[in-house]
Amino acid sequence: DWTSEQFIENTVAELQQTIGNDKVVLGLSGGVDSSVAAMLIHQAIGKNLYCIFVDNGLLRKDEFETVLDSYKHMGLNVKGVNAKDKFYAALAGISDPELKRKAIGRIFIEVFDDEAHLIEDVKWLAQGTIYPDVIESISVKGPSATIKSHHNVGGLPDYMKLKVVEPLKTLFKDEVRLVGKTLQIDETIIGRHPFPGPGLAIRILGDITPEKVHILQQVDHIFISNLKKTGLYDEVWQAGAILTPVQSVGVMGDERTYESVVALRAVTSVDGMTADWCRLPYEFLADVSSEIINKVKGVNRVVYDISSKPPATIEWE
Ligand code: XMP
Repeated sequence: DWTSEQFIENTVAELQQTIGNDKVVLGLSGGVDSSVAAMLIHQAIGKNLYCIFVDNGLLRKDEFETVLDSYKHMGLNVKGVNAKDKFYAALAGISDPELKRKAIGRIFIEVFDDEAHLIEDVKWLAQGTIYPDVIESISVKGPSATIKSHHNVGGLPDYMKLKVVEPLKTLFKDEVRLVGKTLQIDETIIGRHPFPGPGLAIRILGDITPEKVHILQQVDHIFISNLKKTGLYDEVWQAGAILTPVQSVGVMGDERTYESVVALRAVTSVDGMTADWCRLPYEFLADVSSEIINKVKGVNRVVYDISSKPPATIEWE
């Protein structure tokens, strides 16, 4: 029978065997997978693990600072890199979801590569790839039309010439969480909802501007903190907000307003491959909706997404 203790013991031993005294570089995302991968490798090789956490300007509100802090508390050797402007510049004017993903992927590799080159004699690249990532990236490459150029599997330039180590490649998300718990990683990281690599860029339909990111961050923050406050957060597999390109009419006093529509999405799922929309209580939705409309300038309408996957994917792009 699989246990997290046994998995950790075996994996740490294997990592020590394979890596020896080499240096390893790993990109942290703030998510469960990369964090658990980092802690496992940290147990195996300690200070020879170099972590890089890139701020792409598409993270949740205050996420970069908060998460960087928790990583430092966990004893990880981590460098935070603010690359917001590079990402915004590369995304300017792009509306097509796949082109957004490509631009973000390209800049990420550029920034990451620059940082990795500063580490002398690094031999390995570690990734937090988990089993469903492997499966989805195989199906995406299949004969059917490309669904989404998902995930960061195999997304490395050849010239980096690093050997790849992926200690979580055989695990499902719930197993990754168990391993993380056993490694005593903070609950705020372990219990975290999945968040896509391209971040808020694929939750802003149409082109990206720093202003739109700012609006969506505020909306998302109200939604997520209310989920946490009411204890609903842990019953939801993933939640977030979408900034639609739709402007709708509203009234404010005697004035007609013409402002953005945001959509809230919350789903239950096991692994993200299929998902059902969450039956969140009406009272909860009512509170979140009025808080958003009262507090976030530029938004006058909130809708709730009641579509399941398939066919509606979790993300709108
Ligand atoms: P979909 O939208 O395909 O999402 O139902 C399934 C899960 O994958 C996440 N997702 C992504 N993750 N890069 C990522 O790292 C991406 O381009 C990407 N697109 C979707 C999504 O958040 C959900 O957890």
